[in-house]
Amino acid sequence: MILITGGLGYIGSHTVVELIAQGKEVLIVDDLSNSNLQVLEGLEKITGQSINFVQLDVKEAPPLNELIQAHPQLEGVIHFAAAKAVGESALNPLKYYQNNVGGLLNLLQSIPTNIPFIFSSSCTVYGDADALPIVENSPIKRPKSPYGNTKKIGEEILEEHSRAHANFKAISLRYFNPIGAHASGYIGENPKGQPENLVPYITQSAVGKIPPLTVFGDDYPTADGTCVRDYIHVVDLARAHVAAFNRLEENKSKTAYEVFNVGTGQGHSVLEVIASFERVSGKSLNYSIGPRREGDIVTAYANVDKALQQLNWSPKYSLDEAVHSAWQWELNNSSR
Ligand code: UFG
Repeated sequence: MILITGGLGYIGSHTVVELIAQGKEVLIVDDLSNSNLQVLEGLEKITGQSINFVQLDVKEAPPLNELIQAHPQLEGVIHFAAAKAVGESALNPLKYYQNNVGGLLNLLQSIPTNIPFIFSSSCTVYGDADALPIVENSPIKRPKSPYGNTKKIGEEILEEHSRAHANFKAISLRYFNPIGAHASGYIGENPKGQPENLVPYITQSAVGKIPPLTVFGDDYPTADGTCVRDYIHVVDLARAHVAAFNRLEENKSKTAYEVFNVGTGQGHSVLEVIASFERVSGKSLNYSIGPRREGDIVTAYANVDKALQQLNWSPKYSLDEAVHSAWQWELNNSSR
């Protein structure tokens, strides 16, 4: 049984589907702060199984300890539970350190050290990278937000914990920009409030749920002047977690603590994502060009050779397929 914290969240829920497809049993804990029980229903419909779920906040050490003691059969942890709004993190940094760093510490203190551990990290740990595509051994820089800093600190904690405990093995996956939704239409990205991220903003504005998109700056030093990111289909990202778990379980790690980029290796500009949306939806998107957003990095895309070679994983979906799935999800769920 694998403990999935934040398993009803966007990336966690898609990972649960892929784990169950591989015959794994999961135990989801989620505090429902940025998800809801419809996600659990969606997971049960997709997998045709009832799924173990406990509503619990990993910041609360006593119930977390109790839960872990009650499940001696745990064979791994995939830790997604965290707050992730970059803008909010600047307004309320303590919430981010409490949730993201505090929650990680509670988990590490309560689980036996011999259980494989996978951590949701982010390409934000590279800050404004000096060279592209970004490789894992690029310098780690001070991230531009408290949210990003919690990911950097989380990685450091895991590395130090692995040095202190010979049997502790962990992998951090540094996500680039996850987008899209499961093909079933039962699960997808459903941020509470107005989305900060580009693709949910596009799809929600296209159905009239929120005002038209503002493109944050078109005077960057890129081909069309808009920022470039590495957008990866969330199902491909979910599959990378299964691959990372298998690597730990099969004792294939080269070092006790490892990091992998998870992206496609391709960069796409904001205008290219809009063009992709218009292609796959057949709709023209109403948007305007506005000023730059504070803290945005100009260009970030991954070198994914390490994951391709060592995780026995590769991304399957194109940008259009990912954007199409996000649009289908929006159409299926416009009433939510
Ligand atoms: N963008 C717009 N308009 C919007 C929203 C986004 O033009 O309304 C642009 C941004 O300026 C950026 C691109 O679309 O150029 C992607 O923006 P996102 O907010 O979707 O993604 P980011 O790359 O800014 O942020 C992502 C994750 C964070 C993580 C960060 C690390 O969402 O969790 O990468 O770089 F910290």
